[in-house]
Amino acid sequence: MVASTRQSVCMGAPAKLNFHLSIGPRRSDGYHDLISIFQMIDLCDTVQITRTPGSRFSVSVVMENFESIEENTMEKAARLFADVTGIADALSIRCKKRIPMQAGLGGGSSDAAAVLLLLSKLYGYPLQRSELIAIGAKVGSDVPFFLGDSTAACVEGRGEVLTALEARTDLYGVLIMPEGVGVSTREAFGELDRARLQNKVPLRTIGKGQLVSMYAQPVAEWRYFNDFRAVMGPLSPLYDTLDTIVSELPDAFGTVSGSGAAYCIVSAEHRISELFRTKVERIGANVTIFDIKSLHRADSGVTVSL
Ligand code: C5P
Repeated sequence: MVASTRQSVCMGAPAKLNFHLSIGPRRSDGYHDLISIFQMIDLCDTVQITRTPGSRFSVSVVMENFESIEENTMEKAARLFADVTGIADALSIRCKKRIPMQAGLGGGSSDAAAVLLLLSKLYGYPLQRSELIAIGAKVGSDVPFFLGDSTAACVEGRGEVLTALEARTDLYGVLIMPEGVGVSTREAFGELDRARLQNKVPLRTIGKGQLVSMYAQPVAEWRYFNDFRAVMGPLSPLYDTLDTIVSELPDAFGTVSGSGAAYCIVSAEHRISELFRTKVERIGANVTIFDIKSLHRADSGVTVSL
């Protein structure tokens, strides 16, 4: 009978990079207004949802290759979706993690967005896009970006105001993830506030028009910066070394992503990112290195099996 049919849907949940991130003062609600250039990349988790029709909503989450995490963004997203839509099935979510956690790569947010997109597909798109984004924003500030149609965007507000960019297809890169180190986003914002109170980090920004037009220019001309870079503590010497390597390469741009701990470089030439990888391997730092590429939404389709 159709009513008892289990359905399964699956999709890639891509990581993001922040090429630019300037952060304003702490708001009265505890968040910070920011302006950032976000880029999805081809490093993806895989999220699968199986729906077993029932009379009561339930959700279980299994992380295939990671210990369960305390506050699971996927479970939160599914519960909020159920609250709004009234769905009453048993959902089983499986996630294969590839995106490092506490890396500034948006993995938890992307997984949550994938859950919302997959549930929308499973239930015949019951919500408007704006309702889905409102749910996403409740799960995390980066989730709305991952629900958007564009793989690159200028992001404002606390993360929910998106201006789509014509995504570049020519950015090759390398991601450096320090081993055994993760950065809590909340703590990084706190550090930045404290440093600002002591006048150690100025409030500065680049106009939105300039940020957007810079994105289309050669990466060697990018003047993007990340406010968190000033409060990276023990990770700073590693980032200084990586910055120096980048400065010696033609046509390359390097930055910490988000609040860290991942550092990325991108170049329009594959050869340059390979050269960077070789030089990083030579310094013998305790890091994991990933090859990456800028992503187009068309690369990460939803697959459905009934
Ligand atoms: O929204 P999300 O749960 O990802 O944010 C984690 C923490 O980072 C928040 O609790 C808040 O302390 C901080 N944050 C912020 N301003 C933002 C985004 C996040 O202060 N725009």
